[in-house]
Amino acid sequence: MRLVVLVSGSGSNLQALLDASAAGAPFTVVAVGADRDGTLGAERARGAGVPVFVARVPDFDSRADWNRSLARLVAEHRPDVVVSAGFMKVLGPEVVDAFRILNTHPALLPSFPGAHGVRDALAHGVTVTGCTCHWVDAGVDTGPIVDQRAVRVLADDTEASLHERIKVAERAMLVEVLTALAEDRSWR
Ligand code: GAR
Repeated sequence: MRLVVLVSGSGSNLQALLDASAAGAPFTVVAVGADRDGTLGAERARGAGVPVFVARVPDFDSRADWNRSLARLVAEHRPDVVVSAGFMKVLGPEVVDAFRILNTHPALLPSFPGAHGVRDALAHGVTVTGCTCHWVDAGVDTGPIVDQRAVRVLADDTEASLHERIKVAERAMLVEVLTALAEDRSWR
C-alpha cells in the first residue's frame, strides 16, 4: 500500500511509519509533503531516502491554488492512502475529494477538535484523553472515526508531557490502522 504522508513539524508519526515499513509492515511511504521549509519531518524522510515536496501557502495567490498544487504534487506519487500526520493546514475540496486521507488527532474526537486538542483537553480538566485516527472529510476533524486510544491525564501533566504520552499511543495506533487497511480488513 502506497502512502503519501503530510507533515508540518517533528514527524515522529512519520518516523513510526518509516520504521514499521522498514521492519516489514505492508505499506511504503512513497513521498512526504510539507507545508513549510525546514521541518524535521522532511529531514526524516530525506534520511530514509523518501522524496519530499513542499507546498507553502504564501507562495500561491489563493488557498484554492495552494490546494490544487498540493493535489497535483500528491497525485504524482499515486498514493493508495494519504496520511495527514501532524499536518497543520485544513485541506480543501481540491485535495479531500481526490484522495482517501487519514488524519491523526491528539484527542478523543468529537471532543477537542482543531489545532490545540491537547491544550483544550487539559484546560477542560478531563481525566482521560487520547488520540483518534479518522478519515478526512470537508470539516475540521469531523470525518468517520477509524480507531481511538485512551490516555490518562496525570495530575502534574503539562501540555508537553501529555502530548508526548499521547504521541506514543498515536504512533502505535497509526501503524496498526494502516497495517489493517493494507491487509484489507474492514473498518467502519
Ligand atoms: C500529533 O500529535 C498529531 O496528532 C498532531 O500533531 C502531532 C504531530 O506530531 N496533529 C494535530 O494537532 C492536528 N490537529 P509529529 O509531527 O511528531 O508526528
